[in-house]
Amino acid sequence: MIKRPRRLRSNEILRKMVRETRIDKSSLVYPIFVKEGENVKEEIPTMPGQYRYSIDTISGKIESLLDAGVTSLMLFGIPNDEDKDEVGSAAFSENGIIQRTLEAVKPKYPQMYFITDVCMCEYTSHGHCGALCGEDVDNDKTLELLAKTALSQVQAGADMVAPSDMMDGRVAAIRDILDKNNYKNIPIMSYAVKYASAFYGPFRDAAGSAPSFGDRKTYQMDFHNIKEGVKEAILDVEEGADIIMVKPAMSFLDVVREVSNQITLPVAAYSVSGEYSMVKAAAKAGFIEEDRIIAEMAVSAFRAGTNVYETYFAEEVAKLIDEGR
Ligand code: PBG
Ligand code: ZN
Repeated sequence: MIKRPRRLRSNEILRKMVRETRIDKSSLVYPIFVKEGENVKEEIPTMPGQYRYSIDTISGKIESLLDAGVTSLMLFGIPNDEDKDEVGSAAFSENGIIQRTLEAVKPKYPQMYFITDVCMCEYTSHGHCGALCGEDVDNDKTLELLAKTALSQVQAGADMVAPSDMMDGRVAAIRDILDKNNYKNIPIMSYAVKYASAFYGPFRDAAGSAPSFGDRKTYQMDFHNIKEGVKEAILDVEEGADIIMVKPAMSFLDVVREVSNQITLPVAAYSVSGEYSMVKAAAKAGFIEEDRIIAEMAVSAFRAGTNVYETYFAEEVAKLIDEGR
């Protein structure tokens, strides 16, 4: 035999020398929940090891992220129940939870990059991602709410906005309002290719954002489709998105690959709550080796073409990178 693929696997140094995929901590984004109240740090029952913080406790987590070398986070707000209404006004209030968090915390951490999730579901009384018309979300009415929300987050200090609602035309609407207010250089990371997925279950428990009736299938995508994902990505490129996200990650890496082949923008993959919770539960039961699973999930996302990887395991991935795993 002349060709022996095992030759390159014979030694640890050699195996690392010829690695095809190398990942870097600067590609990591950590999702974090902030809620009203004081001195709150409550563990999310469906996501062991993840917490809801109040504005005064979130700094501790930011410091540990920075220590680990994670320099980007994405903020999700949890308002008080009594502040929820039909249209989600608390999302764009100057006194909203995200706005106050940014004002209080951002100036203290210039080394941290603050991305905000733009959606209405955490703030609407019915839990859908926009304003309703009958039983369905009214696309065009919702555009205005999303644009106002993005603008108010940027005014409070967000470095980047990330719309996750899946309304048609929202990237253009957000780009337009930001430009008109002279925020021409604030990038938009669009959750362009977002599937209606059971993998979001634990997040909805964490954020209290489950729809009170029906589901999100009239706006989020059908998981049987990949061409539709490319279509959504291309539309958002045309509307002025700066980064295109595919979500969830683990079961959608074919989509990440396809989108990354078809467009010329950076691609992000979001390893969502259900992915995290499955790993945690299986590890706790002793069925899997948590660290190795985390490494394989992260590297496979990059192997598929991801440039930005959002994960609740960001700190763990940073540590695994340090260890050269
Ligand atoms: C809000 C939003 C969701 C997630 C990110 N932004 C929930 C949803 O669409 O119901 C899910 C994130 C996760 O599961 O980790 N629209
Ligand atoms: Zn939503």
